[in-house]
Amino acid sequence: MKNNVNIQRRKLLKLVGAGAAATAAFATFPGFLNAKTMRVGSQPSLDFNPDVEIRLTGKVKHVSIFRGPTTRVWKVTGEVLKGDKSVVTNDEETYLAPTIRLHQGQKVRIYLKNELPSATILHWHGLHVPSKMDGNPMYAIDNGETFVYEFEILNRAGTYWYHAHTHNLTAKHVYSGLAGFFIVSDDEEQALKLPRGEFDVPLVIQDRNFDQQNQLKYAGGMMQRMHGFLGEQILVNGRPEFKLPVETRAYRMRLLNGSNSRIYKLAWDDGTPIKVIATDGGLLEHAETLPYLTLAPAERREIWVDFSAKEIGTELTLRSLEFSSSGMGMMGGMGGGMRGGRSGGMMGGMGGGQSHAGEAFTVLKVRVSKKSSSNDVLPKRLSKIPALSLADAENPQSPRRITLSMRHMSALLNGRSYKMNDIRKDEIVPVNTLQLMEFDNGFHGMGGMGMMGMPHPMHLHGEQFQVLKREVRSKSGKGYSSLSAGFLDKGWKDTVLVMPGEKVTILKPFNDFTGLFMYHCHNLEHEDMGMMRDLLVK
Ligand code: C2O
Ligand code: CU
Repeated sequence: MKNNVNIQRRKLLKLVGAGAAATAAFATFPGFLNAKTMRVGSQPSLDFNPDVEIRLTGKVKHVSIFRGPTTRVWKVTGEVLKGDKSVVTNDEETYLAPTIRLHQGQKVRIYLKNELPSATILHWHGLHVPSKMDGNPMYAIDNGETFVYEFEILNRAGTYWYHAHTHNLTAKHVYSGLAGFFIVSDDEEQALKLPRGEFDVPLVIQDRNFDQQNQLKYAGGMMQRMHGFLGEQILVNGRPEFKLPVETRAYRMRLLNGSNSRIYKLAWDDGTPIKVIATDGGLLEHAETLPYLTLAPAERREIWVDFSAKEIGTELTLRSLEFSSSGMGMMGGMGGGMRGGRSGGMMGGMGGGQSHAGEAFTVLKVRVSKKSSSNDVLPKRLSKIPALSLADAENPQSPRRITLSMRHMSALLNGRSYKMNDIRKDEIVPVNTLQLMEFDNGFHGMGGMGMMGMPHPMHLHGEQFQVLKREVRSKSGKGYSSLSAGFLDKGWKDTVLVMPGEKVTILKPFNDFTGLFMYHCHNLEHEDMGMMRDLLVK
């Protein structure tokens, strides 16, 4: 496998040519280095002047997640080589990769050192970076190798993240630990009086299975591949039974669904509605209030929670509510009941020990434990978001249609599965254009319906997009009605959940950078089953 990735990568690199880094080095040492065979990301480039330099090292480590035996994980540890040390926050207690915090306009160089027992590569999810810095699987590096990323933070303030993106192995690598937050700030956001420091809390929600020795279990069987992995143990920031002590004031909570395939239906147990202030690509124009939040894999929502009227000692629970998953795959709707731990009860459904997709869980608990002397007021206006216009699209009459389907043990986009260096005519996009695109999950025809109807969280690399419309074939579809009130299609998005029987139309800009940019389902088991393709921007 390891060698395969490399052979494919090197073949492709010959075709694509070497990167800017190689070109710069070649110019300095003519005849010494052969730019044609030099690997992308193998050298820092001489003409890139970073404000911040970071080294990330991936290694097998043992961390103490539960009482008793430690858990063997794949752990990324970060170190700031140049710049403010607070850019990187490591969490030694768990498997999560460090949180990286940068400001718009900063230039960063990141050395990724692979000391893991597999080739791997990291992708900066939601960031607008050059193709060669984007963590395409063809750039995977072997154990002992280092990849040098160099890019400028062009994105607006937002909760982004990063994770492994290895060919056929993304699900396993992310499951083992290779994912972390990448938080960007900008001047507009800093000018607002939003909760900061300890009152600004990133929270990543993940589900895992552990054996009696506290070791991660990942089966990878047929059912698990078709449906995606569903774990019975919910972890927040890599911890089971997560509790957050809070003061009597407002908090900014940044929620990331970092699970392989589980969708959450998040609600406060006392019925307090959810106030959303930001989505994948940063702040909304103003807060939106929802009864619950539907959070699909890879999606982010920032919420505003005010505990100022609460008594000391009050406990609040953030739950994932049960939802009907019938029409969501053949195993949908089986199993059931409430489960919050790893041992609880019988295995749901018949999926070889799988818990079911719409299962209820306790996600985290908040305990009001201290009086606060200060508070922040939610600003009426958070940001101004320029609406992308259909009139500016290159193809306003003919959307690029991407059909989502699953059949014969494969997950497909337009009937195709992933292959390196396999760009078709309809996958070529002219640079600096705005494209009208649609994801069709059985809206036309029966592709996504019936037994194989599954929700697909669709993600595009590169710039953030805007959702133009969401159409439903039939409103009586249960999967639709039990999650739809928690959708929020406003603002800038990089991942959008497409339910069975739905069609979601988006406007996606392809500015600044040429090269390969992926689009895929962010159910990581689906991604590894081939539900991923490259777009060639040129
Ligand atoms: Cu978060 Cu291509 O992925
Ligand atoms: Cu999918």
